[in-house]
Amino acid sequence: MNVHIFDTQLELDAFAANLITDIVTSKPNAVLGLATGSTPIGIYAKIVEKYRKGEVSFADVTSFNLDEYVGLKPYNDQSYAYYMNKHLFAHIDIPDTQTFLPNGMADDLEAECANYDRMLLERQIDIQLLGLGHNGHIGFNEPDHALSGGTHVVKLKQATLEANARFFATMEEVPEYAITMGVGSILKANSIVLAVRGADKADIVKQALTGPITTEVPASLLQTHPRVTVLLDREAGRMLG
Ligand code: F6R
Repeated sequence: MNVHIFDTQLELDAFAANLITDIVTSKPNAVLGLATGSTPIGIYAKIVEKYRKGEVSFADVTSFNLDEYVGLKPYNDQSYAYYMNKHLFAHIDIPDTQTFLPNGMADDLEAECANYDRMLLERQIDIQLLGLGHNGHIGFNEPDHALSGGTHVVKLKQATLEANARFFATMEEVPEYAITMGVGSILKANSIVLAVRGADKADIVKQALTGPITTEVPASLLQTHPRVTVLLDREAGRMLG
């Protein structure tokens, strides 16, 4: 793993944005794997800035998001579809028809998962952006004695529900289920960027990067991938030797 530690969030965001836009520049029809959450917001802002300066075009890019809540409509402002439009898609030239998220409103969620996997099988993700949950989750692959390789419906763990609650008015509104890409699909990406900020993630960063490879810390499986770049701020990296 290639680990970079940054003094400022702006530096981390700019570095991550460059990794992504460099790939799009060298391969205009690149396939991007995208994440939501608080960590990528600054990265997407930087990408939008580069697009506005005319440094990059996304006209031929395709994107796949990691996950979506079950039961939230795309125009619900807590859905990940809404988030992606707000922070990225509405500000760049990627056509709507080339952006994909799991459909958490599908009548048949199992069929939706199979359909998402079919689309992923037809393409290779060139670069997958990931954040890290406090419990070591990537996407919504929660710690467990076993993990799924493909896209699946997941019941979110209490720790994740509590972390997500900050975005909702009441705990009852926090969706309990999500659809997530599986670790198999994540690990098939040609390259992976894991971005993590904050002292509260220092311990899980250490476990994920230097601890045993275990499904109880899903991010530890990234140790098996040959091209992972880890971007940390000082606080998140402070427990690394
Ligand atoms: C979001 C996702 C999650 C987040 C993780 C960290 O699409 O897949 O795994 O990346 O929960 O979230 P933040 O960045 O809000 O700390």
